[in-house]
Amino acid sequence: MERNSGYLISEEEIKSKVKEIANQIKEDYKGRNPLLVGILKGSFIFLADLIRSLDMDLEVDFLAVSSYGKSTTTSGVVKILKDLNQPIENRDVILVEDIVDSGLTLKYLKEMLIGRNPRSLRICVLLDKKERREVDVKLDYVGFEVPDYFLVGYGLDFAEKYRNLPYIKALTQEEIKEVLK
Ligand code: IMP
Ligand code: MG
Repeated sequence: MERNSGYLISEEEIKSKVKEIANQIKEDYKGRNPLLVGILKGSFIFLADLIRSLDMDLEVDFLAVSSYGKSTTTSGVVKILKDLNQPIENRDVILVEDIVDSGLTLKYLKEMLIGRNPRSLRICVLLDKKERREVDVKLDYVGFEVPDYFLVGYGLDFAEKYRNLPYIKALTQEEIKEVLK
């Protein structure tokens, strides 16, 4: 993985992109009452901003997941730490995620939720690290296509740090060392 110290998505860029996505969702879900499902923890800031741009009826729920660790990542099995609080049968569900890398997490969650018979299921991600994709998963709303740098801020963390940055940036080698110290 490359690390570029200069890579940045500014607060302003994020703001206008979130509005753009919200407008599309508003259009697509007119007269519905979609359930937006945030995948914790990374998506919580994106979801919070997104719904404040959505002046329509909607509901929010959360899923918390953790991957099973390096040895089993290729299987794509993720551990559900917190499941939804409600059934989603006949609901219009929008899965909201911070970033897609291999695609394994979203593929697993999508299949799991489809099994609960929602009326519809779409995926909304802020960041797409397309070149890292290992499995095919359809993304319905995408904010930014990003290069293969380790990105933090706006909800994204490195070892639980940096989530509170109002912008998104690539971590430098020095910052990674500092956190791991
Ligand atoms: P996937 O299952 O390989 O697509 O992994 C997606 C998950 O990996 C995301 O939900 C993030 O938690 C994490 N992730 C991938 N790339 C980054 C990054 O650049 N910064 C922070 N987290 C990342
Ligand atoms: Mg995540």
